[in-house]
Parts: sequence; structure tokens; C-alpha cells
Amino acid sequence: ALYPVIMAGGSGTRFWPLSRQARPKQFLPLASKLPLITDTTARLKGLASLKDTFIVCGPLHAKTAAKLVKGLPPKNLLVEPVARNTAPAIALATVQVAARDPEGILLVLPSDHHVADPAGFRKTLAEAARLAEGGHIVTLGIQPHRPETGYGYIQLGEPLEGGGRKVKAFKEKPDLETAQGYLKSGEFLWNGGIFVFRADVMLAALAEHMPEMKKGLTALKGAVGKRTFPSVLKKVFPKLPAVSIDYGVMEKASNIAVLPGDFGWSDVGSFAAIPEVRPADARGNVISGDETVVVDCDNCVVLGDKRPLAVVGLTDVVVVDAGDAVLVVPKDKSQDVRKVVEALKARK
Ligand code: GDD
Ligand code: MG
Repeated sequence: ALYPVIMAGGSGTRFWPLSRQARPKQFLPLASKLPLITDTTARLKGLASLKDTFIVCGPLHAKTAAKLVKGLPPKNLLVEPVARNTAPAIALATVQVAARDPEGILLVLPSDHHVADPAGFRKTLAEAARLAEGGHIVTLGIQPHRPETGYGYIQLGEPLEGGGRKVKAFKEKPDLETAQGYLKSGEFLWNGGIFVFRADVMLAALAEHMPEMKKGLTALKGAVGKRTFPSVLKKVFPKLPAVSIDYGVMEKASNIAVLPGDFGWSDVGSFAAIPEVRPADARGNVISGDETVVVDCDNCVVLGDKRPLAVVGLTDVVVVDAGDAVLVVPKDKSQDVRKVVEALKARK
């Protein structure tokens, strides 16, 4: 069977003031009327069942995640005692799936992405699952169109029998110059952050490439399904290395395959990406809020709340009213919104 695992532990500070500590990006309706996490699980309908779906998140977000993904069995909500990045999060889910179905196939999905073509997405995932059956850790590759430094890059290797390509190299978050070179070479795809693999294959990869994790992993495996699991988790999890799966496994393993996919992927990285996922008016403005007025603006993102919000005569600017806080930022600086969160934290 296929076991979707939704990673929902991120904090998404680039969407302040809409995102707050208790309401990170994945819980916001950034791309449609529904929160990103709700869309993420809904688009798997027909491919996998909710009873086989897991969500991994922190204690602060467990309640909201359960509310936004209706029908998720409570025992499939995996709560990390502390955030240790994606390798431990994936390890936790893999241990759970392996206990049920050692060769079960996990579909590891970020909770905060948008997909414009869900049917095409499901088709690609089904194909990835078939590749994964043969022992590959499969990542979905996206055609790059800018030298983004926040992504992983996949160098294409030989074609594989049954679809996809071998991965010659996996480079997580290169610097700008390197990314520009990758783009020019035409040999690289973006890593979509979506991973498909057999439970036993990932357990072996974690043990091999992240030996610091071995002891904890063994303890978790021994306790899974038992009443002692929560206390073992509490003891073991904080000691796992805080490393992402990209650095911990993907850069190191040799059994990586990539399946190129074209399904309108966006990771909605900042307010500047909103026009990628939401319709704009004739002048390129994305506007929300019943009381929002935009006059003589071009390529702006103007997100209002209940009260009137007016923007006049601006180009390439983001204005967001969250009701109790307001943000104004030029589009090309919207990555820096995370500095607002840092500044506000330092003030406390
Ligand atoms: N449960 C849990 N625990 N989830 C986490 C944690 C954690 O400690 N840390 C991050 N996540 C979740 C986030 O909520 C997100 O859905 C997903 O895991 C990926 O984490 P990000 O922090 O968003 O990673 P990234 O964007 O820097 O990089 C990854 O995604 C890119 C594509 O969007 C990498 O896989 C890159 O290689 C990739 O290009
Ligand atoms: Mg991300």
C-alpha cells in the first residue's frame, strides 16, 4: 500500500503577519480558500487512503493539523517532542509504517506546497511508487527556471528501466553562482522536496548515512506499537541529529532516482510567489478582501482583512493586513520578512 506522510513541522516565518507561531504557513489558505495542508491531503484522493496517511508535526500544531485534515485517524498524527528537522521526522514516520508493512511505500510530502494539476501529480506519484518498489529512493524533479538558492538541485544521470533517471549528484541549497551554473548546464532539476521510498529501504539508508541516528532508530523500532512508545520517543527524539533529509540522506545515498514531473509545482516560498498560485487581475495584481481597493497598481500583492485597505499607484509591492498587524514590502525583498519575526522575537 501507499502511505502518505505529510511533514508539517515548519514555521514559515516569511508569511508574517499572516503566519504566527501557532499558525504557520501550512495552516494558511495561501493558494486557495483552504489551508495548504488541507489541499495537500485532499489532492491524494484516489491514490491513497486517509487511514494510511500520517502527519508529522510538533505539539504546538497537532490540534490544528487534526482539525484541518478531517478523517485522519488520531493514531496517525505523529507528534515530535521537539523539532529536529526532516530526517528525524521522516525516520519517525518510517518506523511507524515499517511496523505495519515493512515494504510499504511512503510518499513524503511537504504540507505547504501548491500543485496546479492534482491529477498529473497523482500520476507522477504512482509512477514514483513503482520505481520505489525496486529499491530506489525517488525524488520528484522540477524543471528549474531561476537560480533559486533555497532549493536542492539534482544532476540527471542515466535513464532507468521503468522510467525516471539515476541521480548523478544531489546538491542541497547551492550558492548563487553555483545555482546559475547548474541552470545554464541544463543538467539539473530542482528537488521538489517530495520523496517516495520503501520503508525498509529508508531505514537502511538512515542507518548507513546517518550513523548518529542508529541508536535512536533502534530504540524507536523496538518500542513501536507498545505502550512505552511515547516515553521512548520523548527520550530518544531530542537526541537525534537535527539534519534535513536532503543533507542527511539524499546527498549521500547512491540509490537515488529522480522522476521529472510537470504538475504546476510551487513551494509558495514567500509573498512574491503568491501570483504563481492565485489568479491576478489584468495588471498582474493579486487582491483579496471584500474591503480592499487597489488603484493604478501593477504586479502588487494586496491581501486585506475585514477592514478597508487601499493601495494606490504602486508597482511590485506587497501589502498585507492581518487585522492586528500590517506588512509593506517590495516584492523582491519578501524573503526578508523572516527578519521581522527575528526582530520581534528579540524585542520580547
Ligand atoms: N515534522 C516536521 N518536523 N516537519 C518539518 C520539520 C520538522 O522538524 N522541518 C521542516 N518540516 C517540514 C516543513 O513544514 C515543510 O513542509 C517540509 O518539511 C520541508 O521543510 P522546509 O524547511 O520547507 O525545507 P526547504 O524548503 O528549506 O527545502 C526542502 O524543500 C525544497 C523544495 O521546496 C528541500 O527538500 C529542498 O531540497 C527542496 O528543493
Ligand atoms: Mg520549503
